Amino acid sequence: MSAEVTKILVVDDDAFVRDMLSTILEASGYRVVTAENGAAALESYIADAGIDLIVSDVNMPEMDGVQLIKELRRNNHDVPIIIVTSVSSIAVAVEALNSGAIDYVLKDESIQDTIIITVKKAIEKHQMKKHNIQLVADLALKTSELENALSSRTAIINNMPDGLLVTNAEYLITLANPALVGMFGLERMELEGKDCRGIFNENLVSLLDKIRSEQEAVFTAQVELQGGRTGSAIVSAIRRKLYSSARQDEFIGALVIVRDVTSEKEVGRMKDEFISTVSHELRTPLTSVLGFTRVIQKKLDEVIFPQLPTNDAKAVRAMAQVNDNIRIIISEGERLTALINDVLDLSKMEAGKIEWKMEPVAIEEILDRAIAATASLFEDKGLDLNKVIAPGQLIVEGDKDRLIQVAINLISNALKFTDRGAVTVMARMAGMGEGSANGGAYSGFEQDAVLVSIIDTGIGIAEKDRTLVFEKFKQVGDTLTDRPKGTGLGLPICKQIVEHHGGRIWAESRVGEGSTFSFVLPGAPPAPEF
Ligand SMILES: Nc1ncnc2c1ncn2[C@@H]1O[C@H](COP(=O)(O)OP(=O)(O)OP(=O)(O)O)[C@@H](O)[C@H]1O
Ligand SMILES: [Mg+2]
Repeated sequence: MSAEVTKILVVDDDAFVRDMLSTILEASGYRVVTAENGAAALESYIADAGIDLIVSDVNMPEMDGVQLIKELRRNNHDVPIIIVTSVSSIAVAVEALNSGAIDYVLKDESIQDTIIITVKKAIEKHQMKKHNIQLVADLALKTSELENALSSRTAIINNMPDGLLVTNAEYLITLANPALVGMFGLERMELEGKDCRGIFNENLVSLLDKIRSEQEAVFTAQVELQGGRTGSAIVSAIRRKLYSSARQDEFIGALVIVRDVTSEKEVGRMKDEFISTVSHELRTPLTSVLGFTRVIQKKLDEVIFPQLPTNDAKAVRAMAQVNDNIRIIISEGERLTALINDVLDLSKMEAGKIEWKMEPVAIEEILDRAIAATASLFEDKGLDLNKVIAPGQLIVEGDKDRLIQVAINLISNALKFTDRGAVTVMARMAGMGEGSANGGAYSGFEQDAVLVSIIDTGIGIAEKDRTLVFEKFKQVGDTLTDRPKGTGLGLPICKQIVEHHGGRIWAESRVGEGSTFSFVLPGAPPAPEF
């Protein structure tokens, strides 16, 4: 017989009943072994690991059926036991069930049928029970694995040096780690479920407002921390995809990571201050060097050179060389002065130490002044400079000289990086034309905002460099083979100025075809004197 056949131990002191039951069960395909009382059954069961079920009489010498059950259960044997009892001793059957029997059958004329049904049911029930026990064990294992994973994740979040805040769409806190609590100097209270707006400063709450209302998925910002410290926050929206409709994804919360950058900021400030001090200290002696060199050049030209003999070839050569060297000293000195002035300018702007003379200014005037200032350079290089100004008054509230500086920087860049073609200076209302065509660069500006573009047909700027060029001292392209044509401060200065005006500046380009630098400035109502 195969191993899957169920093996049943039939226990009865009456050989006739034993035989009868064995015959019935064997006829139904079971394997049967027998024992003549509880004690013998216990021995057999322990000796034979293959017994799946016991069918036992109640009243037997030495050890009765109920005792057998108790003995097996006491030794943690889980085998299912069916008790066979006479109608008269139904109370014993109840006791047997209470002691752990799985079922009972009555010893009557229908036992032939009932025993088979009861055995089948008992086996199924037992298997079900075993299955359930396994399920419970699996569940316990999974739960403990999950708890372990969760507790290690909680440990990570709790020990993170960065502050972590998670809120739902209603500004209620779902998670705030200890680092965050410390950064904002909060009580170590239960923060979960509380409204952020009553707990964190305006500064942080405004970031949550922003991520809620804007389409941006992630942005960074500075936040004030406790004790005058500064944090850098990365704010990210948590959105749920809505498959069912074409509407935008549902905003379900925000995630904020805050890092204390007080010392980095301080180092940056010290570096800027150092550069600004050094530049300042350089400017005074440089002014003398340049001034005296100019005086020397003048004296040489007016007084000394005319007195030298023109028939002395050696003297003429020396004169030409001195003249040339003096010219180089002056032009390099001027370059150095321009650089120092740019550094000082930028550091003053960054430190907010610049005085802005804000007034309504006409963009056309700004552009005309910048064009006039660069016209001779265009002539020298043989490039065309076109001006396309949309009709109507384009007025912004701004600092005239600073805006001229922006235009000159952009026009001279266009000139510097263009060898063929032309440079076009364009201005119009930002509300007109293809507003969204450039990634919404000036979305968010009113209809009367003014857009200025400087378009060239020059070398262009690779995509990866288009935002880098607005950083200090960044010069892109092949700086190893091409001699840098400046210091890389022009665009950062433009950015500072434009942003001070509440505007935005950006570059678009195709490598080898040209670049367009544009800025948009909020419009101003024309003043009466205009
Ligand atoms: N119109 C342009 N076409 C191609 N590249 C440009 C253009 N404008 C700027 N760039 C690139 O961006 C870099 C930074 O420009 P930025 O005006 O800041 O510095 P610079 O012109 O090199 O020096 P500076 O303006 O301080 O004299 C340039 O060196 C150049 O690589
Ligand atoms: Mg420049």
